[in-house]
Amino acid sequence: MIDDLWYKNAVIYCLDVSSFMDTTGDGVGDFQGLARRLDYLAGLGVTCLWLLPFQPTPDRDNGYDISDYYGVNSPHGTLGDFVEFTHEARVRGIRVIMDLVINHTSDRHAWFQQARADESSRYRDFYVWSKKKPRDANRGMVFPGVQKTTWTYDEKARAYYFHRFYDFQPDLDTSNPALQEELRKVMGFWLELGVDGFRVDALPFVIQNKRPDQGGGQRYEYLRDLREFLQWRTGDAVLLAEANITPDKDLSYFGDDGDRMHMMFNFQVNQNLFYALATTDVRPLTRALERTRVQAPTAQWAHFLRNNDELDLGRLTEAQRQRVFAAFGPDKDMQLYQRGIRRRLAPMLGGDQRRLEMAYSLMFTLPGTPVIRYGDEIGMGDDLSLPEREGARTAMQWSSAANGGFTLAKRSRVPVIADGPFGYAKVNVADQRRQPNSLLNWTERMIRMRKECPEIGWGTWRVLNAGVPGVLAMRYDWRGNALLAVHNLSAEAREATIRLTDLPGQPLINLLCEDHSRGDRRGTYKLELPPYGYGWYRVGSLTDLQTREPR
Ligand code: NOJ
Repeated sequence: MIDDLWYKNAVIYCLDVSSFMDTTGDGVGDFQGLARRLDYLAGLGVTCLWLLPFQPTPDRDNGYDISDYYGVNSPHGTLGDFVEFTHEARVRGIRVIMDLVINHTSDRHAWFQQARADESSRYRDFYVWSKKKPRDANRGMVFPGVQKTTWTYDEKARAYYFHRFYDFQPDLDTSNPALQEELRKVMGFWLELGVDGFRVDALPFVIQNKRPDQGGGQRYEYLRDLREFLQWRTGDAVLLAEANITPDKDLSYFGDDGDRMHMMFNFQVNQNLFYALATTDVRPLTRALERTRVQAPTAQWAHFLRNNDELDLGRLTEAQRQRVFAAFGPDKDMQLYQRGIRRRLAPMLGGDQRRLEMAYSLMFTLPGTPVIRYGDEIGMGDDLSLPEREGARTAMQWSSAANGGFTLAKRSRVPVIADGPFGYAKVNVADQRRQPNSLLNWTERMIRMRKECPEIGWGTWRVLNAGVPGVLAMRYDWRGNALLAVHNLSAEAREATIRLTDLPGQPLINLLCEDHSRGDRRGTYKLELPPYGYGWYRVGSLTDLQTREPR
């Protein structure tokens, strides 16, 4: 088994160049600003950045409406700035992956413009057309309540075009070989400029047969094509798929031999994790973990708490979803698309640092690779007066200076949270850096810990009986080392009873504090957990810890 799979023990940090750091003073973030903040990110300890789309765009869907695959949107700088940034990231040992948005383009993309203007254009078949309005035009909207249809009439083309998302995002027909060739060039271009892979946007829709004459179905073989091309060009680059699918489909996306996607976001676990946080019932989370156990040794889950979109709860039952709504998004205005919550993590958890730490600690110990969202390391809040998902996409809060230190412009063009408990005067990097017990310093310590515990990313795992409700206990084994992670999701103190019958008499070394546990001769350990308490333990002596084979 090749053990050089960097993504298995990576810590990914997701950011949007637009909202991270502005150095040019135009009120929008840029690559020069991001490059200046690389030391901050290196200090935090993250090993890979995932950049949201930064190419030219009319910006009607936060950049997920690309009008030119081969450039940098002018407020963010130039291709030269991009290359300087990736170089600087590499110098610090930080990898960079970027969004690959190939399900659709912006309607302003030259391909679409030519496709609609001329039926005989080679670009016509890059998109999906129908002379008559298809019968299912009012079904399958991704943004229910906002989006009215998936087929829109275009006067110039004199035909309806298909769009899974907003009407300004016409879907590409990725079964078209000529388009596939163009998309390979797009990947090749960015790989050549130094990226380490792609977060593949909306993957289930990318591989769907969309033309009315195709009769539906998924083209899974295209996943292998993408993978092969990627790896011929850059051997250790990765594909991280956004695919909110049911567990029975996991294998189709990873591939039986792990020859399709390297990584996928685990939406199943994410939603059940929020259910567990809301109710302290960890059983559905345990089931979600079991049902999404990966088979191929090269495949890996990416775990997250919040991302750039709403917290999608669409895979929970109606009753479960209502419990999460009641706990974390009770007002109608906090909910979105009839399935999710559009708040950031810190306000959802009432700004309670103990609970935030427990939630993040839990996420860091899920079997896979953790993905943190910018600003969560300081507990940033949201602005629900902004439409749809925009409320959780505000400017990074660097200091208590004007605009949170994000820009020197008088007026930031990216919304800034100025007031309230999560305003930049109260929540910012500069202050938290000085406070030893801040969330920022805690996150830095946790990232270091996660990197030193490759058992989590590489090992085999099982959920243990903790003997008490509201507590999740997991054990990982890898190369002769065992690691235990125990989390108390409840607001009350708990005593967990863990049995490690195969390792009797060995001490449990708490990696986070001096609270070790001896256990009895039969391998039964009693662990005292305060409200929202947690512990990471190595099984064995401290000497074992030091001689452990490094990764
Ligand atoms: C998923 C992205 O995360 C979301 O923000 C976007 O609207 C859709 N894909 C469409 O690209």
